[in-house]
Amino acid sequence: MTPFVKAFFDEATFTVSYLVREPQGKSCAIIDSVLDFDHASGRTNTNSADAIIEYVKAEDLRVEWILESHVHADHLSAAPYLQEALGGKIGIGKNITIVQDTFGKVFNEGTEFQRDGSQFDSLFQDGDSFHVGQMRGDVLHTPGHTPACLTYVIGDAAFVGDTLFMPDFGTARCDFPGGSSATLYQSIQKILALPDETRIFVGHDYKAPGRDEYAWETTVGEQKALNIHIGQGRSIEEFVQMRDTRDATLAMPRLILPSLQVNMRAGHMPPADEQGNVYLKLPVNKL
Ligand SMILES: [Fe+2]
Repeated sequence: MTPFVKAFFDEATFTVSYLVREPQGKSCAIIDSVLDFDHASGRTNTNSADAIIEYVKAEDLRVEWILESHVHADHLSAAPYLQEALGGKIGIGKNITIVQDTFGKVFNEGTEFQRDGSQFDSLFQDGDSFHVGQMRGDVLHTPGHTPACLTYVIGDAAFVGDTLFMPDFGTARCDFPGGSSATLYQSIQKILALPDETRIFVGHDYKAPGRDEYAWETTVGEQKALNIHIGQGRSIEEFVQMRDTRDATLAMPRLILPSLQVNMRAGHMPPADEQGNVYLKLPVNKL
C-alpha cells in the first residue's frame, strides 16, 4: 500500500505537517499540525491550518485522524481547530500522561488540569493499529526525544516525528525532561528495522550544511547508509556521547513555554478567566 502524502511546511517553526490519504479513496489523516503563534504579541493565527483545511475541502476528503507524533516543544498544535472544521479523532502516545505530569508541575497547574490524557480521543501504545479508510496504520513507540514519541507507519510510509531528521541533519535532541539519548538510539533501531524502501517523513527540517533547499522525505535505506549521527551501524556509546555533548550546547526552542502548555492539553488553550481572557504562564528559572 502506497499512500499519497502531501506535506505542508511551516518555515517559522521548520515543522512539516503531513496529510496522508488513500491512493484511491477519500479517507485521510493529518499528522503534526501547526497553530501559528507570534511570541512577541501573544497572538495566534490559523494560516498554516487553513492551508490544510483548504486542501481537504478542495479534494473532498474525509479526515479520520488528527495525529500527534508527540507533545511538541517548538510549535503549537492546531488539532482542535482542525477537528472543529473537519472532524476526525485526535491521537497521541499513551505516555502523554508522563509528559502531563512533568509539565503540570513545571507550570504549577491546578487539579482541573487532568494528567490522564483525557484531552485526547485516543492514546496509542506500541503495537496498536488503526485505520484510515482501507489503509492500516501501525504504531511504534519511539521514545527518547520525549517519553511519549510515536512513529506512525501507514503502508510504506513512516512518520517519524522528532526521532530521525534528514540524513544530513541527523537526529533529534534528547535533553528535554524525560528525554534520553540511549533510549532514542534504541527507538531509531526499531525504525531502521523497517524495510529499506520504507519512505520516511521527518517532523522538521532545518536545511543542513551544503543544502539550500528544505527536504523532508527519505528512506530507511538512506538513513542506514547516510545518517550523520547514527548511520553506518554507529554504536550506542558513540551515539550517546555525540548526542549528549551536542545537546549541552543547544538553546531552548523559542516557543517551548507556550507550546508545552497548549500541546499537553491536546492543542487547547488553558481555561479562560471570568472575562473570557486566556493567559499562558512564563515560569522563571524552571527550564
Ligand atoms: Fe519535538
